[in-house]
Amino acid sequence: MEVIKIKILAIETSHDDTSVSLYENKKIIKEYTISQTKFHKNFGGTIPEYASRHHAQTIIKILNNFKNKYDLNDIDHIAFTRKPGLIGSLHVGRIFAKALGYALNKKVFPINHIHGHIFASAFNHNIIYPAIALIVSGGHTQIWHLDSHYPKDIKLLGGTKDDAIGEVFDKVARKLKLGFPGGPFIDGKAKKGEKIIDFSIKNDKTYDFSFSGFKTKVINYINSLEQKKEEIHIQNICASFQNHIFSPLIIKTKRAIKEYNPKSLILGGGVSANSELRKKISKLHPNTLIPEIKYTTDNASMIAITSHLQNGDYDI
Ligand SMILES: Nc1ncnc2c1ncn2[C@@H]1O[C@H](COP(=O)(O)OP(=O)(O)OP(=O)(O)O)[C@@H](O)[C@H]1O
Ligand SMILES: [Mg+2]
Repeated sequence: MEVIKIKILAIETSHDDTSVSLYENKKIIKEYTISQTKFHKNFGGTIPEYASRHHAQTIIKILNNFKNKYDLNDIDHIAFTRKPGLIGSLHVGRIFAKALGYALNKKVFPINHIHGHIFASAFNHNIIYPAIALIVSGGHTQIWHLDSHYPKDIKLLGGTKDDAIGEVFDKVARKLKLGFPGGPFIDGKAKKGEKIIDFSIKNDKTYDFSFSGFKTKVINYINSLEQKKEEIHIQNICASFQNHIFSPLIIKTKRAIKEYNPKSLILGGGVSANSELRKKISKLHPNTLIPEIKYTTDNASMIAITSHLQNGDYDI
């Protein structure tokens, strides 16, 4: 097949990372990502008003870095994250992309952030369709069915009913005073703990996910130890937490594989950086696609590769 070169400038501002990536044919020429975590960690969560203001200030600095090093006149198009995300933050990326497109006389394409998480694994794998995708992030826990990489062929089987899985990691880590975002801290502590506490979760027959009862169970357990002034064994709590929180993901993904017989299983989103989850999911299907760690949490490169797949007019 003829290889048509495509160069994309992609912008991601849906939450608390300002990220711009210059991409060409599955390769990243340069990605700049500036995280706001240092600020938001003082509050244990994102402050939307600050996030938008920070994006507005940072994105100009990032563009100047690009302009000083690369000729942006030779890009084919611009892609930006349209939704889902914080409305003010998304708006900064959108206006910026549109203005840049106008100045450079380039087409500007909106991209769905969740599609970005799904196709983050396309950097190191070829996706064969039909596929099932499990998305586990700060705001979403979802199972998708894909017949191709085009939006019309990407269908939601089920998703977040209350707290998303990443949010539960962050809230429990906050209760244990481990740091923000909590996922990597719990991941690290769990490796040294024993899975001896029963935090089991009831399952239902849908593809939806509910973690709020589980979150309350874990936090109540810690509260009761605090009240009784008993030792809080953080490593065992983290190991037991991970032992149970992943079980609905495994059970429901297995069920989707049985029902849809996919040729690929895709994992994506910030929680896909978790070492235990990566191992467990890779056992479910012979063709399991897991993104490189750098493409698990928010980044503009995943938006670029998604735009290549959806707006490049040919397969990669
Ligand atoms: N090793 C890890 N184990 C578990 N969770 C992790 C790990 N690394 C990161 N996370 C979690 O990933 C989440 C951030 O993921 P991501 O950047 O995809 O979320 P988001 O963009 O804010 O949400 P969404 O994509 O739903 O809009 C945080 O909740 C963080 O705790
Ligand atoms: Mg995300």
